Amino acid sequence: MKFFITSILLISALIANDDYEIPQEFDKQTYEIGQDIFEQKCTTCHVKFIDMNTVVRNFFHENNNMNLKAPTANQISFRLKQQIGDKSDIEFHLFETNDYLKSYVLDPNRSKTICLDGVIEYFDGMPSMRGIVSEEEIEQLNHFLYFLEGFNGINEHFHDETIF
Ligand code: HEC
Repeated sequence: MKFFITSILLISALIANDDYEIPQEFDKQTYEIGQDIFEQKCTTCHVKFIDMNTVVRNFFHENNNMNLKAPTANQISFRLKQQIGDKSDIEFHLFETNDYLKSYVLDPNRSKTICLDGVIEYFDGMPSMRGIVSEEEIEQLNHFLYFLEGFNGINEHFHDETIF
């Protein structure tokens, strides 16, 4: 019986995997390093993951009832890919989102925001992370943020560590 259940689980995992084509630009190790840096240096303000429907409800219908101090990482991921650069080529797009992230993290400024006004109005500004994160760490953070949350039809590689 145990064997049977294990086999079923394994088979369904394999079938589920077929729905995703992992892009060659994705590097698991860099993603994990980026995630560690995020957890160490960003999670005092940014929550890593809340599903998008809940996030939208929180900001647009419930007056930030969840008391979030900053956009969530998956929200940033979504907006980053939607608002910055050319989505058609992941390799090049990663450079573009990295440039943006570097500029924002070192010199944060409201005028650079990629989030909707209805979200940003709930927050105080972000302090510069200059001297706290290196350029290499920003690249790793970018890799993590890029692949964290999918974007309809453009990057369907949702945060799903069982697939990566
Ligand atoms: C002290 C709290 C704090 C910390 C720590 C922090 N952030 Fe932020 N961050 C914010 C706030 C607040 C915003 C919302 C924008 C604003 O109000 O200026 C923001 C916005 C952002 C944005 C842009 C979203 C937008 O459209 O405005 C990015 C990208 C970002 N943070 C990345 C990071 C990364 C990466 C780290 C860790 C290296 C980090 N932040 C650490 C508070 C913080």
